[in-house]
Parts: sequence; structure tokens; C-alpha cells
Amino acid sequence: MLDIRALQMSYGAEPVVENVDLGVAAGEFVSLIGPSGCGKSTLLRAVMGLQKPTAGNIRLDVEKAEIGFLFQDDALLPWRTARDNVALGLRIRGRSKGEARQEAMHWLESVGLGQFGDRYPRELSGGQRKRVAIAQVLALRPKLLLMDEPFASLDAIVRHYLTEDLLSWVEGEDLTVLMVTHDLEEAVAVSDRVVLLGNGPRAHVKGRWEIDLARPRDLLRVKEQPEFATTARQLWDALSEEVRTPTIRQRPELEVVNQ
Ligand SMILES: Nc1ncnc2c1ncn2[C@@H]1O[C@H](COP(=O)(O)OP(=O)(O)OP(=O)(O)O)[C@@H](O)[C@H]1O
Ligand SMILES: [Mg+2]
Repeated sequence: MLDIRALQMSYGAEPVVENVDLGVAAGEFVSLIGPSGCGKSTLLRAVMGLQKPTAGNIRLDVEKAEIGFLFQDDALLPWRTARDNVALGLRIRGRSKGEARQEAMHWLESVGLGQFGDRYPRELSGGQRKRVAIAQVLALRPKLLLMDEPFASLDAIVRHYLTEDLLSWVEGEDLTVLMVTHDLEEAVAVSDRVVLLGNGPRAHVKGRWEIDLARPRDLLRVKEQPEFATTARQLWDALSEEVRTPTIRQRPELEVVNQ
């Protein structure tokens, strides 16, 4: 569904991502991890078409309209109710006002917010706003879901339940997912494959882990399996190694040594 080949991304003259190959098959859930600043969000922006690669290729087997996005900050419009926020995308897709509202309520109910349709974003908690944002995305029936640390700002319990729900929607709707996360356990628990993007001088793929845990997965049970612990530990070690490696970007004096 998504095929990235020899991708290079730069800000001005400074290359940030170099020579990244990454494929995501239909129905696959792939998580992208890596040290802060290594280029994960930049890579995701390239897939969304928000930023042009300086070299390489991105092939997408879905229409732009079939791609859903979920970011750390939700993009709810403060002057619209939860229902009208969800309905907006449906209106843009050509639904009548009545249809859009009805479908919006269906999706709000499916994320457990059936009673909150008339609330404005400021009247909702962070976790509830995130659920509205999820309803907004699911309502458009995406085939590919791109997520950049979608639950990073939430507390552990809310995060757990949202991840659990997300997992069942993804498994139920047969979605293809590429998610950036800092949470290694979450990455192992939900993914079919975890890809580690390395630190500098330019980000490239440092490791890949296939997660052969059966589906559908129970987010709590899956963590009790021996394979889960082994893989999570390997990821931790690999990521720690990357974090300890200073980037040339962060340590300009190294540039002289390496040239
Ligand atoms: N608009 C920009 N202009 C110049 N440099 C940028 C810009 N946005 C990001 N960068 C740089 O590009 C590198 C990669 O940034 P990016 O946001 O992709 O990292 P990330 O892996 O998503 O990090 P984090 O885990 O902290 O979100 C960083 O060194 C960052 O400073
Ligand atoms: Mg980022």
C-alpha cells in the first residue's frame, strides 16, 4: 500500500533523512520509533505530501482522500460542536447536512461519546477530544491511517483505553497503519512490524522487528507473553544505543573528525 524507496529529506541544505526504504503492506500495522529529532515526523509529512523529498520515491496505492491523519494535537475547530466537527469532513465529501449529522453521531457513539455531540471542544477533556478526533478520522473510512504520537499528551490509563479501542477499530476495519510512537511497549503490543529509525548524521533504518503475536490482540494479555517481553527489551536496547549516539547535527565538532 505504501512503498518508500531511497527517501531523502532535507531542510534547506541540511539532509535529515537519508536512504530510507520502508514498505507497508495492505492491512499491516507498522510503528516507527527512533530518538527525538531523528526525522520520524519529517518522514510522515513526506508520505502525506506536505513536504517534498529531495530524492527517492514514495508510492501510494490509495487515493489521497483515503488517507486519514491523527496527530498529537487534535485539529478540532473550537467554534463547532463535537458532532459538527465530525460532520464537517462528511459535508466536504458531499453528504447532505442531515446525513452528515446522523453519520457523525454514529461515529461519536462508536467512540463512546454519544452523549457529547452538543459539547464544544473546550467543554471536553483531553481524552474526549482525542476520541472526537478519532471519530472524525474513522467517519471518512480511510484505508491508510498515518499517526504521529497520537496519544502522547494523555495520562497512562486514558492512553491505555484509547490504544485498546484503536486496536479493535484497526483490526475490525482492516485498516493499514503507519504510526510514530515513543512508547516501545505500545509499539510491540499493537504492531505487525516495528521499524527503528537511527540517529544521525542522517536518519536511516537501523532495525526492523516482526511481531508475530496472534490477532486480535488483547492489550493487557499480549504483554504477558514471553515474546512480548523479549522484543520490547531488544527494542529498548537498540533505541538506547541510538539515543546515546550523538548526531553530527547536535555535535558540530564531530563533523571535523568524521570528514
Ligand atoms: N521546519 C524545519 N526547519 C528546519 N529543520 C527542521 C524543521 N523541522 C524539523 N527540523 C529538524 O529536522 C530534524 C528531524 O525533525 P523531526 O520533527 O522529523 O524529528 P522527530 O523524529 O519527529 O522527533 P520527535 O521524536 O522529537 O518528534 C530535527 O533535527 C529538527 O530539528
Ligand atoms: Mg516528531
